[in-house]
Amino acid sequence: MVTHSIGLTATIATSYADPFTVARQIASLDKISKGRAGWNAITSNPGGLANYSRSHLKKADLYPMKKEFLEIVEGLWDSYEDDAFIRDKERGVFYDPRKMHPLDYTGNYFSVEGPLNISRSRQGRPVVFQAGTSPEFMDIAAEHAEVIMAPGHDLEYLKAFTNELKRKVQNQGRSPYDLLMMPSHNPIVGRTEKEALEKLREIESWMPKGYRMPKPGLIGSAEQVAEQIEHWYREGVMDILLIRQDHPAGFKDFIQLVVPILQDRGIFRNEYEDDTLRGNLGLPYPENNYTK
Ligand SMILES: Cc1cc2nc3c(=O)[nH]c(=O)nc-3n(C[C@H](O)[C@H](O)[C@H](O)COP(=O)(O)O)c2cc1C
Repeated sequence: MVTHSIGLTATIATSYADPFTVARQIASLDKISKGRAGWNAITSNPGGLANYSRSHLKKADLYPMKKEFLEIVEGLWDSYEDDAFIRDKERGVFYDPRKMHPLDYTGNYFSVEGPLNISRSRQGRPVVFQAGTSPEFMDIAAEHAEVIMAPGHDLEYLKAFTNELKRKVQNQGRSPYDLLMMPSHNPIVGRTEKEALEKLREIESWMPKGYRMPKPGLIGSAEQVAEQIEHWYREGVMDILLIRQDHPAGFKDFIQLVVPILQDRGIFRNEYEDDTLRGNLGLPYPENNYTK
């Protein structure tokens, strides 16, 4: 509540949560932050049995369940049309009931009556992120995802994956520009290439003896790393860079050394464009599905 530009995206697995609760939690965050919330809808890795009292579902159930989950959450987020609330104290009219839409959803995994008790936010709906790689994943992502969290180890693989996914997005009648790619990287940057390699050795020295770190896709001097980032960006596979860091100084170094170069090259913002997460990502305001 004390920030005004940062967006927050929570990862909640569709395999282990409940759609009504998720819709409510993320919509609440979206209202509190004035339109800066997102949801990373993943199916999750096996391991449910350890903490969620049941075994991990097979793909035959995993993705049909995810599809229902997304339909419900998105439906609940559109419970009220944008002009449903009249708030006329004199006439005693709070809202127009014709502009409220219960969901009445009955599926194989969930049944939810709705409506949600939360209206839409300044960005319309929270931004939907997803992560995965399989064909089953892609079919659902093409319909529902707005940002794809993707593995960042192989540029050629990601190019093929992105082309295939964008083709599926178009088949859904959506613009391929309304789907953003966000590969995950662990950049190691130094003032010189030598310094970056020393950092890699330093991280390895904290690991169990003999452990060799896989060499990250983005490594070198600030200028070299910026060059590599621009290459991924121009290839159309990196609209957003998702950064992981193992080195304690990693984030600070990246921000101080690489970001100014990216700004000079015109591929990183100097100021926030908007005050919503959707606006800052350049994603369009979603029309309410009931008024489409
Ligand atoms: C880049 C990326 C990030 C992921 N992040 C998470 C995560 O944070 N938590 C999680 O439980 N699963 C995560 N997953 C796993 C996915 O939820 C999913 O289980 C996995 O991709 C297997 O599904 P698939 O074969 O359909 O792609 C991630 C997957 C990818 C590709």
